[in-house]
Amino acid sequence: MKSTESSPFDPHRDHAAAGAGTAAMAELLELDAEVLHDYLAELVDWLGELSDEEPRHIVDLGSGTGTGSFALARRFPRAGVTAVDLSPQMLHRLSKKAAALGLSDRVRGVQADLDEGWPRLETSDLIWAAASVHHLADPDRVLAEAFGALRPGGLLAVTEMDFFPRFLPDDLGVGRPGVEARVHATLNPYPPADWSAHLVRAGFVLEAQRPFVIDLPAPLPAATARYAQVCLQRLHSHLEGRLPGDDLAALDAVLAGDGPHSVLRRDDLTVRTTRTTWVARRP
Ligand SMILES: C[S@@+](CC[C@H](N)C(=O)[O-])C[C@H]1O[C@@H](n2cnc3c(N)ncnc32)[C@H](O)[C@@H]1O
Repeated sequence: MKSTESSPFDPHRDHAAAGAGTAAMAELLELDAEVLHDYLAELVDWLGELSDEEPRHIVDLGSGTGTGSFALARRFPRAGVTAVDLSPQMLHRLSKKAAALGLSDRVRGVQADLDEGWPRLETSDLIWAAASVHHLADPDRVLAEAFGALRPGGLLAVTEMDFFPRFLPDDLGVGRPGVEARVHATLNPYPPADWSAHLVRAGFVLEAQRPFVIDLPAPLPAATARYAQVCLQRLHSHLEGRLPGDDLAALDAVLAGDGPHSVLRRDDLTVRTTRTTWVARRP
């Protein structure tokens, strides 16, 4: 399932600069958590409503810096969260944050490559996998292992991004209108994957499939401009030779740290994205 095309949300795409790539990805994930805080809170509340009892053992698959782990630990104050990730750097940031939040006793990292096999973990009540399943070489195998790792009645929540966040108005004041739309059409020409059949094949009963349509109202969170800059930089790195020169020049003007069109100085930003969550229960 792992895409051969590199994805802007793939932290391992640039092995040559793996450390720098992971640090940049970690910043993106942390900004994402900050700007989309309300959506995350709504999502974990909803999982609370769907759970048959309060989860005590939670696993976060492909945890990154812990966006999901910390949201879940806050929502379920009696739960322990095991954050599983391939990357020691991501887990290092996660454990520093856990200490800063006073959550070290409830959020712990486990370094494991899920492509190599399921780590030794205790039976879970809730497994969370956000923006991680699409990275796996054989997601069906990992979903079947997640099934085996849940207690009967336990939930698996898989979340994926339908499309990368959008920030810009149609007319940027530089270049032709529609630059951001053309960026997305170039990089993401396919409809988003549907994980329903994969979950059913793994033995789960599908409880819900819910798209969260995010269009943040003003005032936007303070981190929005930097979040937009980091996201657009990441897209830009995939666009060389794939977008007309005038569109790349307009994007450069938006990405520049200063100048009249800079994303850091604009007052016309928005945050629009859709993320879908599939909730599946082990019968
Ligand atoms: C896009 S990030 C999402 C992080 C986090 N779930 C979030 O929503 O902020 C994907 C994460 O999956 C991890 N990952 C990718 N392949 C993996 C594998 N085979 N085993 C374990 N973790 C993996 C990456 O290291 C990365 O931290």
